Amino acid sequence: MVIFLLWWASACCIFTLVDARATSHLYRELLNNAPPGITYTFPRGSNALMSVKTTTTTSSKPYIQKLQPIHSAARTNKRSVAAILGTHQRSVGGTGYTNVSTTNAYGTQYATDSFWDGSKVKLLLDTGSSDTWAVAKSFQCINYAGGYIPQESCSFGPYSVEKFQYGRTEPASHMYIQYGDGETVSGPMGFSDITVGNLTVSRQQVCLANSTYWLGNNVTSGLLGMAFPALTNAFLGDGTDHELGSAIQYSPFFTSLVDQGKIDPIFSLAIDRNSSTGMLALGGIAPATGLDETREVSMDMIITNLIGIPATSYAYSFYTVIPDGWYYDHSTSTKKIPYIVDSGTTLCYLPPNLAEAINAAYSPPGVYMWMYGAYFTDCNALSPLVAVILNGVKFWINPQDMIYRNMVDPISGLCMTGIASGGAGPYILGDVFMQNALSIFDIGQAKMRFIPRDKY
Ligand SMILES: *[C@@H]1O[C@H](CO)[C@@H](O)[C@H](O)[C@H]1NC(C)=O
Ligand SMILES: *[C@@H]1O[C@H](CO)[C@@H](O)[C@H](O)[C@H]1NC(C)=O
Ligand SMILES: *[C@@H]1O[C@H](CO)[C@@H](O)[C@H](O)[C@H]1NC(C)=O
Ligand SMILES: *[C@@H]1O[C@H](CO)[C@@H](O)[C@H](O)[C@H]1NC(C)=O
Ligand SMILES: *[C@@H]1O[C@H](CO)[C@@H](O)[C@H](O)[C@H]1NC(C)=O
Repeated sequence: MVIFLLWWASACCIFTLVDARATSHLYRELLNNAPPGITYTFPRGSNALMSVKTTTTTSSKPYIQKLQPIHSAARTNKRSVAAILGTHQRSVGGTGYTNVSTTNAYGTQYATDSFWDGSKVKLLLDTGSSDTWAVAKSFQCINYAGGYIPQESCSFGPYSVEKFQYGRTEPASHMYIQYGDGETVSGPMGFSDITVGNLTVSRQQVCLANSTYWLGNNVTSGLLGMAFPALTNAFLGDGTDHELGSAIQYSPFFTSLVDQGKIDPIFSLAIDRNSSTGMLALGGIAPATGLDETREVSMDMIITNLIGIPATSYAYSFYTVIPDGWYYDHSTSTKKIPYIVDSGTTLCYLPPNLAEAINAAYSPPGVYMWMYGAYFTDCNALSPLVAVILNGVKFWINPQDMIYRNMVDPISGLCMTGIASGGAGPYILGDVFMQNALSIFDIGQAKMRFIPRDKY
């Protein structure tokens, strides 16, 4: 009996060991094949943030914040993954997203109604950065060369925030952040109550931006950063010292919510097909319609980091997963490659061969137009049946999302398709995918989870 037990125990452990070895082999391969200017990290569920809930169905009631999509005049989102990668890869000599950044359809921005010490302020939702800031009433708008220009040139929404309810940090610190496309924001840091989705973090460390190079949308007056503490950008003192040595990590909004016991370490995003609505659920699962909860999947969360440009605090990272492959038109591609999950990017960006094959399966077939970096087909074309396979489960892309009917090339009258080429990578699961799933960022367990919702 004892022998039997021992055997059983060792069999179990050899199995998990082999499993772990296969996983670490996959990760090593991932790191070796990373596109230029990119690294990957593998977060571990931290004890401090350990989620007590293991299944979504038993999760506590989430706090819901409706998201407002912003259709600005320019229709671009400088903070979408596609845009940031475009800028970044050009700067490291790559070509991956060179053409993507010329298209005028690659991004959607979402605003969240928030409160700063009780005053209403619309903030831009950003899952790729961690600092939360609002522009101060008396801020200085600067141009790319650092010259002073009128406040209106920064195109913020209404600005009303003037102070920190609980004063400055001690010792004094400031935020300095440079986003992927060169936009720069700085200002003193202090403590205020921040409310999102009827949920308040008391004494959250935030920045009142008093100097910005910003290409705004006339709607939002600051930004809500939803990423990890490691990406915060606070530096000691008031001055111009933004060296790494003076950096002091702090607890960003989402981490504070969890630390203050307000919610489980989890948030989820549901975006509706026509982008007229979106939902951010803090601490649980958004009550979206059309969920097929029997087909929920859980995958390792990987973080894609852009390798910083020296002498700036440039830090941007993205939530990433490795799908099993793609199914299209009765064939399956099972190459394992990382994809970034990004609500700010409109299309899905796939490896060139796969994008080409899927677009060829439209009737009539999609044609590549390099000036958009995207494929176009007849606006009433028949689209192929396409699914991305996540942990063995097919996540169907509803045919409605396979053709972008409001993105028409004026010369040919053709419509943009939902599947574009992502060049050398990394690749992106954008709104075209996110409109067909509820995406759960389970930070406590370092997992990304998805629930299909292709019909609603
Ligand atoms: C912005 O705030 C900092 C304190 O962090 C201060 O030193 C600086 O003079 C202010 N700049 C402007 C333009 O008000
Ligand atoms: C917001 O929270 C307050 C108190 O916690 C509660 O009374 C109110 O019903 C909540 N409102 C919504 C819209 O959930
Ligand atoms: C913001 O408003 C200004 C002035 O009304 C306008 O010129 C600019 O194009 C607008 N910007 C965006 C991104 O909508
Ligand atoms: C979005 O979808 C909803 C529900 O199907 C519909 O009521 C609304 O008119 C649509 N909006 C747009 C802009 O298509
Ligand atoms: C990108 O655009 C350039 C023109 O700016 C074009 O020559 C090139 O072929 C395009 N690259 C791809 C991969 O389509």
